[in-house]
Amino acid sequence: MYTLTIETTCDETSLTLTSKTKSGLFVHSHLVLSQAQKHAEYGGVFPNVAKREHAKNLIPLLIQLIKDAKADLQKIEIQKETISELKEVLQREPELFVHLAMLLKSGFFIPLEKIVVVSGPGLDPAVWVGVNFAKSLAKITKAPIVPVNHMEGHIFSTLLKGDNPYTVVKPELPSMALLISGGHTQLVLIRDFGDYKIIGETLDDAVGEAFDKVARMLDLHYPGGPEISKLAKEARKKNIKLETKFPRPILKEGYDFSFSGLKTAVKYFVDDLKKQNKLTKEKKLAIAREFEDAVAEVLSVKLTKASEEFKAQSIIVGGGVSANSHIAETIKKNIKKNMYKAPANLTGDNALMSAVAEFAYPHCQIDVNELKSDPNWSIETVKS
Ligand code: KG4
Ligand code: ZN
Repeated sequence: MYTLTIETTCDETSLTLTSKTKSGLFVHSHLVLSQAQKHAEYGGVFPNVAKREHAKNLIPLLIQLIKDAKADLQKIEIQKETISELKEVLQREPELFVHLAMLLKSGFFIPLEKIVVVSGPGLDPAVWVGVNFAKSLAKITKAPIVPVNHMEGHIFSTLLKGDNPYTVVKPELPSMALLISGGHTQLVLIRDFGDYKIIGETLDDAVGEAFDKVARMLDLHYPGGPEISKLAKEARKKNIKLETKFPRPILKEGYDFSFSGLKTAVKYFVDDLKKQNKLTKEKKLAIAREFEDAVAEVLSVKLTKASEEFKAQSIIVGGGVSANSHIAETIKKNIKKNMYKAPANLTGDNALMSAVAEFAYPHCQIDVNELKSDPNWSIETVKS
């Protein structure tokens, strides 16, 4: 029997098949399909495009997942009423319904003991696709549904240890987590697994969003984080610096973040250079470096202060932006505590991180008819 985990909260469609074994979490297969290319022309994630792509890709991804896992399928009998129920659940995802109905025609399905679904926070239309998919699979297999919080998944992506089967490390507690992604920037105090307190968060743009917007100003592709990071690295190697210093917004005031002022400062600076026809390649390198320095300084100063005040025994850095090596190095230089960070393949959104959260400690199950998207689900209200 397998646990299937479903992630569709943003622009990655991801599924994983796992089992709990005596020696840890065995990952049979794990797939992540990025839609980044589809969103590139909008310079950010477009919710309805994300929804459409998830609905289109879930069944092909599930088929591949089963193949990769070499999973033994089980004979199933589907009643006519179940098909009607599926049609109702998937009325907003008709393409997904057609794909699923076709798959069921084989008369075989994967035996599931649990369905983990990331039901928030995220983009509501995108989250709903995963939620409705989970509901449909629960109706087919009668497996229980466990909703997992996306931000909690980012925390657990940093705690995997060993090789397949994996174990989960318990960080020294309390731990201070900095969660940085395209949708969130949060400082979360971890008192125990399942016991979280948000210490600070962004008042406007998320840090990944700021990277993406600045990248757009510099005519770079979406997602902008890795692009900016590449230029900044080159600038450091060539010792190219900007003569201007960008602001470090609310650096010394509390634990909340604000990146919109920094983004606007970069915009004025870039607009000015564009007007004068002086936005050279060298200038772009220097801007990327200064922007990345400003972000890294703000994140590291606030994380240091929070971990001291709350007597954190370890720190965790998770989320898509944690792939940024300059940010990670700046934090490491300033904080002399054990730091947990996800491996490169798990920094971005993926289903495995939430499978790990459920493996680490049991989460609350929910009745299939009560499951819904919770686009603003706070990590503080996670229930075990
Ligand atoms: O966690 P994630 O995959 O999705 C959300 O939950 O939002 O994070 C995506 C974000 C994007 O904004 C992307 O530009 C940013 O992570 N990102 C980076 C880097 N790699 C991805 N930002 C800065 N430096 C990177 N190397
Ligand atoms: Zn994320």
